[in-house]
Amino acid sequence: MRENSGNGLILGIESSCDETAAAVVRAGTTALSNVVASQMSLHANYGGVVPELASREHLRNIVPVVREAITRAGITFADLDAVAVTEGPGLAGALLVGITYAKALTFGLDKPLIAVNHLEGHIHAVLMETRERSETPMELPLLALVVSGGHTHLYLAKQHGSDATWTYRNVGRTVDDAAGEAYDKVAKLLGLGYPGGPWIDALATQGNPRAVPFTFGEIKPRVHRDGSVPANKKAPPRSEGPHFDFSFSGIKTAVLRYVETNHLRQSIEARRATLSGDPSLTPKSPAVTKLCDQQTLDLIASFQYAVVGNLQRQSFAAAESLGARSIVVSGGVAANSELRRRFQAEADRRGLPVAFPSLALSTDNAAMIAAAAWPKLMAHDFVAEDLGATPQLRLGRQ
Ligand code: KG4
Ligand code: ZN
Repeated sequence: MRENSGNGLILGIESSCDETAAAVVRAGTTALSNVVASQMSLHANYGGVVPELASREHLRNIVPVVREAITRAGITFADLDAVAVTEGPGLAGALLVGITYAKALTFGLDKPLIAVNHLEGHIHAVLMETRERSETPMELPLLALVVSGGHTHLYLAKQHGSDATWTYRNVGRTVDDAAGEAYDKVAKLLGLGYPGGPWIDALATQGNPRAVPFTFGEIKPRVHRDGSVPANKKAPPRSEGPHFDFSFSGIKTAVLRYVETNHLRQSIEARRATLSGDPSLTPKSPAVTKLCDQQTLDLIASFQYAVVGNLQRQSFAAAESLGARSIVVSGGVAANSELRRRFQAEADRRGLPVAFPSLALSTDNAAMIAAAAWPKLMAHDFVAEDLGATPQLRLGRQ
């Protein structure tokens, strides 16, 4: 393998869901380019990501997106020190497109290949930007909330050893839907566009958040009659210590019940028809607010108030209980304006630093993959050419 040129230039490739992305990041700090080809409009027709369509689009986009990232960075492939790619979690076919391309590239260029966990990437998006702004590094251990369409996870993150390797402990996770998934399902139920987060975020500002009192109960593990806990194939056994789990399927059902009880179906179908007939309407178009009566706006505001409140309570309770010295929030839902406002206010009240990614780095991108790969490059943590996709890949100790 060819020796590093020493500039710390890493090409990141991300294709785990519905974004084909490539970026060049220098020394885990400066994004020289960050290219994202979104498939959002394609999947919007189906109200969710269609895995077969996603893989086909990745195949179409991967070569031009990577080329664009190299060109915009003003470098050549030969200047790279390594290529980093998302190994998982994500859609198997989608991941494979990025991985296969990255393997071919590193084989052809004789450069090292680095595998990155998508969730670790989301955390490093924030760390990269604090370094770029030359702020004091986030104090460790840090509590990271990764909250997106596929994940709602809490991690306690630390750095160890002379090579500053990052380690993670999962201290909370959703037992059913992810928070972003709840946003997407509730938006769909209310006849709004896909993905639902930006629609609900924009419309919630027009409603009364206390109009509908949604509540979150305590999450208890399911127990057999004989007192034993059934094995959960989706979730591995937990380590000792407190856990701060989430559940978002109940609130989605509560919204559905509210819609039925209050006979909102007709107005929902009218809104759905108007929005699908006019693709120029965006979440922030003034005309969109007029498509919702006050009762619906209040319902939307109450839903968001409850979800954000739940994320906030669990995150700060975990931070306090585990002695975290800072909080990082990342993933698509971290773009939410109410979440940012309330997390910041609570963090200020407690004197705990909190950081979010810029809006561009909240949702899926490849700069975060290249940033997370930087400590691995330093530690020579490379992978072999037989790297495969791991759709259920977990991050750290559970
Ligand atoms: O991180 P991401 O791009 O993809 C996944 O890894 O899932 O996150 C997408 C998710 C979607 O569920 C979307 O509705 C949500 O992030 N989202 C938001 C906002 N913007 C995107 N949720 C709430 N408020 C927002 N402003
Ligand atoms: Zn993501």
